[in-house]
Amino acid sequence: MVLVGLMGSGKTTTGEILARRLGRPLFDSDRLVEAQTGRTVREIFEADGEDAYRTLETAALLDALAAGEPAVIAAAGGVVIREENRRALRDADALVVWLRADLGILTDRATAGTHRPLLDRDPAGMMAAMARDRDAWYREVADTVVDTTERPPEDVAGEIVALLGGDGPAR
Ligand code: S3P
Repeated sequence: MVLVGLMGSGKTTTGEILARRLGRPLFDSDRLVEAQTGRTVREIFEADGEDAYRTLETAALLDALAAGEPAVIAAAGGVVIREENRRALRDADALVVWLRADLGILTDRATAGTHRPLLDRDPAGMMAAMARDRDAWYREVADTVVDTTERPPEDVAGEIVALLGGDGPAR
């Protein structure tokens, strides 16, 4: 299963709960990038620029998708920017869940930490621009949409577990 959505949508937190409940490993694409490079996402953005980070992000996503074991993948918010990644997500034998939420909530959650370089200036404006640019891409890759506005991640995870329990394969 793959969780996609904007920063602050709860991909990592929900992914951790899902991984625990389903007994699957969690692949968080940003954590994979950081483990692989020994640098934080912010350091990569600042030293090498966004494009270099996007290439690492793509490699981490494709590696996670290729792992070949049932897993929970928390994909960084920007994975949908590159067509290569959108194709991989569409073709993956995985349930792709778009976690969406109202912009104000996303901005509040995403600015709670300081590790997101794209939100250093005008976070609300950036978030609105990212939603405008990306929502169609999230819709394109997602099998289903789950709203996380004002819902604890345990509820969100419960809804996703119920989706898996349907008549489709446990993916
Ligand atoms: C980004 C999302 C972040 C991180 C980077 C850029 C984006 O990941 O990869 O700050 O472009 O949406 P999260 O979605 O896990 O916060």
